[in-house]
Amino acid sequence: MSSDDPAELERFILSHTAWSQAPLVPEIRVLLATEVTPLWQATETFLKLHNMEPPFWAFAWPGAQAFARWMLDAPARWAGARVLDLGGGGGLASIAAARCGATVTLVEVDRLAGVAARLNAAANRVSLDVRIADILDADPTEALAGVDVVVVGDLFYSRPLAERVVAFLRAAAGGRDVYLADPGRMYVPTVGVALEVEFEVPVLFDLEGQNMKKTRILKVGADAGGPLFPWP
Ligand SMILES: C[S@@+](CC[C@H](N)C(=O)[O-])C[C@H]1O[C@@H](n2cnc3c(N)ncnc32)[C@H](O)[C@@H]1O
Repeated sequence: MSSDDPAELERFILSHTAWSQAPLVPEIRVLLATEVTPLWQATETFLKLHNMEPPFWAFAWPGAQAFARWMLDAPARWAGARVLDLGGGGGLASIAAARCGATVTLVEVDRLAGVAARLNAAANRVSLDVRIADILDADPTEALAGVDVVVVGDLFYSRPLAERVVAFLRAAAGGRDVYLADPGRMYVPTVGVALEVEFEVPVLFDLEGQNMKKTRILKVGADAGGPLFPWP
């Protein structure tokens, strides 16, 4: 079977996860890894065979938990909005936005994440438009046509990725609201962003080395003077 076979990808996901709730978002059911190490090992083998990404989709990262809580606590703001969840993983933030009445597109580079997001959306009776693509080098005006709000959860863990994401977001912020949610990763921008809200998010000690992560939702500005990053 090829890795393009959605049934094979679904089987892999379902056999390595369990239906659970992220601690900050008990109203949404998602497929999450029950233990960190066995899934990571199993996925590494599967990945080598199928040339795929690490299993980010199997964890409720602090970014998506914070976004989902923020959205569900003030749903009116999202009703009718056209939201793009960039790097949405297993879809927790997307599902919350859809629950609030938004029309949601989740964009991912990882096909397994796309399959997990579809399974999770179906379990919560919402529909998501899931796109597997890397849009970071695209013209944001075209890539974001018809999008009112961009949300980006926890994508600032690697410098090359963070640089591409920030360039894209800054351009995107010209015509729409752009928010990122971040638990203090190394490459989160600290200039040209404004604090919206902050959450204490329960996280897995095995992943984060601590049990709680302070997670900030920041609004990205289009025209902030100076660099968006603290490094030269
Ligand atoms: C740490 S996870 C965060 C997932 C989700 N946003 C959350 O907060 O739970 C990072 C995700 O970004 C995705 N990703 C990495 N590079 C990407 C790109 N260029 N475009 C879209 N998604 C990307 C990964 O596949 C992964 O699912």
